[in-house]
Amino acid sequence: MGIFEELASTAGVDFAQARMLPVEAYRSPEVLALETERLFGTDWLCVGRTADLPESGDYLTAELPTVTGSRSVIVLRSGDDVQAFDNVCIHRGARLLDGCGHTERITCPYHAWVYRTDGSLIGGPYMNDSVEADGSPFDPAQHQLNTVATEVWEGFIFVNQRSTGEPLAAAVAGLTEVVSRYQMADYVPVFEQVDVWDTNWKLLVENFMDALHIFKVHSDSFAADGDNTLDTTMYPGTSRWAHHRVHHDGGPDLADPANTHLTDDWRKTIVLGAVFPGFVIQLQPDWLWFLRITPVGTGQVRVAWQVAIAPDTLASQTNADAYVGQVMELIHQVNSEDKPIVEGLRANVERPQFDRAPLSYLERNVYDFDQYIATRLTN
Ligand code: FES
Ligand SMILES: [Fe+2]
Repeated sequence: MGIFEELASTAGVDFAQARMLPVEAYRSPEVLALETERLFGTDWLCVGRTADLPESGDYLTAELPTVTGSRSVIVLRSGDDVQAFDNVCIHRGARLLDGCGHTERITCPYHAWVYRTDGSLIGGPYMNDSVEADGSPFDPAQHQLNTVATEVWEGFIFVNQRSTGEPLAAAVAGLTEVVSRYQMADYVPVFEQVDVWDTNWKLLVENFMDALHIFKVHSDSFAADGDNTLDTTMYPGTSRWAHHRVHHDGGPDLADPANTHLTDDWRKTIVLGAVFPGFVIQLQPDWLWFLRITPVGTGQVRVAWQVAIAPDTLASQTNADAYVGQVMELIHQVNSEDKPIVEGLRANVERPQFDRAPLSYLERNVYDFDQYIATRLTN
């Protein structure tokens, strides 16, 4: 059976009967090409947070996966709006911006055409005798940068390479109901880093949403105070997103006393969420950790990750730097525990097929993600 027939037979299987995806799915270039086209090419991809672009004129650039390589976009704040544009000058195609920063105007490095922060063209030098396609004089007001569909969700900026399609807000409405109470758009960014891990991108998404490995892999970090597996509640996912929650009845209040928007058990509840394909968050009353996961070939993944702290938690620290240092020490430790595991998984899918065995109820979100993969690649 070929890999796509195998995936097709996986799509729609009951959770009780589920196994991990066929191992070929983690090493096949054909699968990666289809994922790039159908998932990264048509679904919503997070490119950062509005908190990364606080001032009008603040921008960042992001590379979106495409079948032929990548597509660079500029994400730019103009007043209250955040909008993405192709990072391509409409004159003759020069790349406009790199990295991130602040600019009042975008000036092309090639022939100095100038654009406003809303993408509209102001003009270019020495265009006196130039004409439009219909022969009328060249009119800058008729031209602007190519826009890329953009939506802001809970402070996260998402873009979509397709201009049409299901709005993000509708696709993740059920997840919004869970997380909106945290007001995470206000969380203050304190750390960001980009890593490349030697694993397949799907193995990393699965690992982040896997509630079964915490007591074992993270016995010196998340589970240092004891195995909290029984505090975990799994919820069935959808074709767009998945989540589970961790909360300990007698556990500590993770919300700051000044936080009045989280009530009752939510004050000690941690949400692990994914918006498919490659966006995952660990959302707590006190801090937020999120990963933007994109493939780099079948055996490498780019992980752009950030940590942000709830504003009331940050404000109440007598030594904010020391507090941030503690959170970061924990998360770096967690990363160092996960990395050899998920890199080892990728190495093992190169070996001959093994007999895939049943999943635990704590791997429900792994199944949700795998169903998304199997269904979307075979329909
Ligand atoms: S390519 Fe940008 S001004 Fe010519
Ligand atoms: Fe982990």
